[in-house]
Amino acid sequence: MESEIAGWLSVIFRLVHVIAGIMWIGNSILFTWMELNLIQPPDDKDEKNPNPDLLGHLDMLHGGGVFHLEKRIINPQAIPVPLHWFMWQSYTTWISGSLLLISVFYLHGGSSLMDGTKSPLGGFYPIGLSVGGIIGGWLIYDALWRTKLKEHKAIAVPLSLALILSAAWFYNQYFNGRAVYLQIGAMMGSCMTANVFSHIIRNQKKFMASLRAGLPHDPSYGKQAKLRSMHNHYITFPVLFLMLSAHFPQLTSATRNVPILGVIIVSLVMVKYLMNSRYYFRQWLVALFGTLIAACAAIACLLSTPTQPTPGAARVDPAIQEGAKLFLSQGCAACHQAGSAQLGPNLQGIFNSTQILADNSKIIVDEAYLRRSIKQPVLEIVKGYPPAMPPFAHLSEKQIEQLVAYLKSLK
Ligand code: HEC
Repeated sequence: MESEIAGWLSVIFRLVHVIAGIMWIGNSILFTWMELNLIQPPDDKDEKNPNPDLLGHLDMLHGGGVFHLEKRIINPQAIPVPLHWFMWQSYTTWISGSLLLISVFYLHGGSSLMDGTKSPLGGFYPIGLSVGGIIGGWLIYDALWRTKLKEHKAIAVPLSLALILSAAWFYNQYFNGRAVYLQIGAMMGSCMTANVFSHIIRNQKKFMASLRAGLPHDPSYGKQAKLRSMHNHYITFPVLFLMLSAHFPQLTSATRNVPILGVIIVSLVMVKYLMNSRYYFRQWLVALFGTLIAACAAIACLLSTPTQPTPGAARVDPAIQEGAKLFLSQGCAACHQAGSAQLGPNLQGIFNSTQILADNSKIIVDEAYLRRSIKQPVLEIVKGYPPAMPPFAHLSEKQIEQLVAYLKSLK
């Protein structure tokens, strides 16, 4: 009952999270686009400028009319009413995301975060590590970008990336691949909302207070918030990728999942940068496709190069290893691995176990049952599960054998 309620709540939280996230990111992308497309007023000192408060203007065709937009300095004597603020999309995304994290990962002591084959952690340690990373990640990032290093982006940006990858490496010692990617996504996403809360909105509040006190428009408030706003803008694509990573088990559960994460973050930041540079860099499209192709090639290399055999690995049957790869590449893991997207039963220790089917009959799992379950899953539906598994009849006999060998090896 408890897990059923958690399941339903996670549906609601996920829907709110996705809608709020789209609204937030949509705003961020649209505002950056408008900023980059503003037509500057003529900078002619001699001619009388009829509108000295104007910073730029822009016309946009939408919904059967033209939106004529002007960006201008605010006159403290004529503060516009109503004035729209943009923050609740961000806060709602974070709040629903935190609730989702709890309903998907933190229930049952955070066992869905863990990977039994890595270092064991019991009690509330998994949740503690996860929450600690989210809070600690923000404190470290915020402190780093308050120091003088923020003037030296050539150092501060690679240092920030190195910190993210160290965190991923650390979590990879304990968490399963999917939880590692989501943890890093949650850490980066939390930094984004904390940027909105403690830099962007705080500066806007100070700015509005100074205007209401009758002081002239002071652009320095905007400058302070701009750096954090740009961070948010550039890490949007990587965070979106990380949040969707439950659908890419072949990447999250790969042996080199942490270097792959690094390639993904760097290339997606680069993609956003090239999209923004299209107004002044003519070759941007070539560079953008070049980046994507280079990233795919790098990921393909990281996926395919054999790892150093670990002691004892020589004893692992090659059929089991091939089966494990198929389990990822065929998308079995997406439905069967523990976590939010889990549609199917846990397959740990399935061989020789007794299963109860939808018609209440009992069956002892042997090789023949496993084969049938893969090739024609509708023949026997496990009690309590929807008949959602697609038939994998297209797999060759050898591949089925390898998958069965892998399933048998799951203890
Ligand atoms: C779209 C989600 C989905 C995918 C993909 C999927 N499964 Fe399943 N699987 C299920 C569901 C749901 C069930 C339980 C219902 C049933 O018995 O068909 C199930 C049942 C099973 C069972 C029987 C489990 C038991 O407890 O008796 C096995 C074995 C299995 N799947 C293996 C695989 C393998 C191997 C793959 C990849 C080749 C795979 N599944 C891909 C959803 C999926």
